[in-house]
Amino acid sequence: QKPKITVIGSVNMDLVTTTSVRPKVGETVLGQSFSNVPGGKGANQAVAAARLGSNVNLIGCVGNDAFGHELRTHLKKEKVTLLEVKRNTTKQTGIAQITLSDNDNSIIVVPGANEDLTPSVLDHFENVIAESDILLLQLEIPIETVEYAISLAATHGVPVILNPAPIQLLSAQMLEKVAYVTPNEHEADVLSSMEGVDLTDNLIVTKGKHGVSFWENTQEINIKSHAVDVVDTTGAGDAFNGALAVAISEGKSVRDACLFATAVGALAVTRLGAQSGMPTSDEVEEFLSKLEKKS
Ligand code: RIB
Ligand code: NA
Repeated sequence: QKPKITVIGSVNMDLVTTTSVRPKVGETVLGQSFSNVPGGKGANQAVAAARLGSNVNLIGCVGNDAFGHELRTHLKKEKVTLLEVKRNTTKQTGIAQITLSDNDNSIIVVPGANEDLTPSVLDHFENVIAESDILLLQLEIPIETVEYAISLAATHGVPVILNPAPIQLLSAQMLEKVAYVTPNEHEADVLSSMEGVDLTDNLIVTKGKHGVSFWENTQEINIKSHAVDVVDTTGAGDAFNGALAVAISEGKSVRDACLFATAVGALAVTRLGAQSGMPTSDEVEEFLSKLEKKS
């Protein structure tokens, strides 16, 4: 039986520009390339989990515009079931304006229709949430919706993975109900500065080329990253989170889940685009077996 994963999150079109020089304020430069590719942390994590062989529902909202239609078709092709409330949003599909330079990115997100994913939308999908093996959340939709999703999951005994990106202040009450919180180092710093929040034993911190850390009885355990040729780091965290959800819902230990998710993240950054780079489970197996042979 395939694990059932529900993602509640953003669906964006990424407008990606590559440039060897970043413009300073008031400056114009000539870039090298431009393309529109599917993105959004919610959709990215959903596609990552689907390519790894899970049954994935994505509760999300796109606009009634060209990007929205394109993203619907794309998600269908990726075997992600997009659950939308049939309502005529007047908002445009969410976009992310991404500048790629020197193997690194900077991003401006305009949420648009993602803002229409309000708490009451979730009532239509309570059964879907209740029947999930894992609920996977990020912070690119209204925070009240994230909070409500966590409480619905708690009511039905469904474990939650919360990827707190982009970081915002969260209540301790809300975090207490989450099984795993997966910040990057910067987000972890912000979380640790929040009053009354002690996450140690359900924290999984992704550290880019320094791998990933988790804690067992307050003891930090680090899992190393893999040396790969980086093409595009956009969506690396999403690859990790999608893979983590798959591994945890298959019953893997946190350590094994982190090992698996680290490999998935490594493969994802070797290809351009947030979603197009997500590997299949066969590709992950091949990658890991090659590593074993080497060592
Ligand atoms: O995590 C990467 C994603 O963040 C991009 O796909 C972009 O849409 C932004 O939401
Ligand atoms: Na990528």
